[in-house]
Amino acid sequence: MKVLVTGGLGYIGSHTAVELQNKGYNVVIIDDLSNSSKDVLNGIKNITKITPEFEEIDLKEKSKVQDFFNRHKDIVGVIHFAASKAVGESVNQPLMYYENNISTLIYVLQEMKKLNKQNFIFSSSCTVYGQADKLPINEDAPIKIVESPYGNTKQIGEEIIKDLCKVSSLKAVALRYFNPVGAHSTAEIGELPLGVPQNLVPYITQTGIGLREKLSVFGDDYPTEDGTCIRDYIHVVDLAKAHVVALQRLLEEKSTSNFEVFNLGTGKGSSVLDVIESFERVSNTKLNYKIAKRREGDVVAAYADTTKANNELDWKAELTLDDAMLSAWEWEQKIRN
Ligand code: UD1
Repeated sequence: MKVLVTGGLGYIGSHTAVELQNKGYNVVIIDDLSNSSKDVLNGIKNITKITPEFEEIDLKEKSKVQDFFNRHKDIVGVIHFAASKAVGESVNQPLMYYENNISTLIYVLQEMKKLNKQNFIFSSSCTVYGQADKLPINEDAPIKIVESPYGNTKQIGEEIIKDLCKVSSLKAVALRYFNPVGAHSTAEIGELPLGVPQNLVPYITQTGIGLREKLSVFGDDYPTEDGTCIRDYIHVVDLAKAHVVALQRLLEEKSTSNFEVFNLGTGKGSSVLDVIESFERVSNTKLNYKIAKRREGDVVAAYADTTKANNELDWKAELTLDDAMLSAWEWEQKIRN
């Protein structure tokens, strides 16, 4: 069974390609290499012994998307990761984000009707909840106005898919990720941030290895136990496995509606200082860090109520924060050697 993974050479996409191949799916990857590299194909092959099919396509080129789908009508599911994801950049370049994340989504959805099986999985984000009024956050929590165009593209993306599901044969699942971290245990694939990392874990590992001098902890005066923000850090391999399970649910026609939403997290909140402590423990390295002022736009706390995914997908995050930090550290060491 052939599955299209757009953005399949990226961080979450590559881990999902591995898990799909582990389950016997034929994977075809589309990627524009804007934030990834062809070397990732080797990483996937080294883990699974199979090189996935790959086409370098920029999904903004509508005619190329049309041509691709004309040649691949036998695809049974599309997992759509391809998108830009830097929050700060999206504030400065909103049109680029709407074009990269929304135009491309529309082009892919327009072509879905050519497929015999119209199953679609969308990468969404817990950012759609903003600062939720109640923790842990379940899927019924109200969608809040988001501050960044990036977050907006996730909200609008979900709306577009939902509207289409009402009037077509499309069956879709939106997966709202909490904070994906870590790397494959083989250190063959992992996160490859361009330039200075904006996210916590790659910043920590790059500081640990000496590429950055010091981590700034953004605020220690939040109303939390240790004063730093709380997030739900989910191991990228657990996250990848959830995509395979969601696809199986669509293929087995077990969905309860044509458009479903699931939170993907561990259900456990960790503070920034918890993450630093975990890193220091598994790496046996003292991390150089300082307390800095709050970063604009950060919510105080966000962690998932995972009951729906646990019960309906029969999926549960199995790896711990220590597992994630150790794998991230091993990956960092491998790519710098
Ligand atoms: C961010 C985005 C989120 C997006 C996700 C994608 C914001 C506000 N949110 O999540 O919409 O889906 O990335 O990857 O940008 N921290 C530090 N020092 C650092 C970096 C981070 O203290 O150098 C802290 C942050 O204040 C936060 C936590 O670490 O409390 C996690 O930050 P980060 O990894 O950037 O993720 P989010 O902000 O949760």
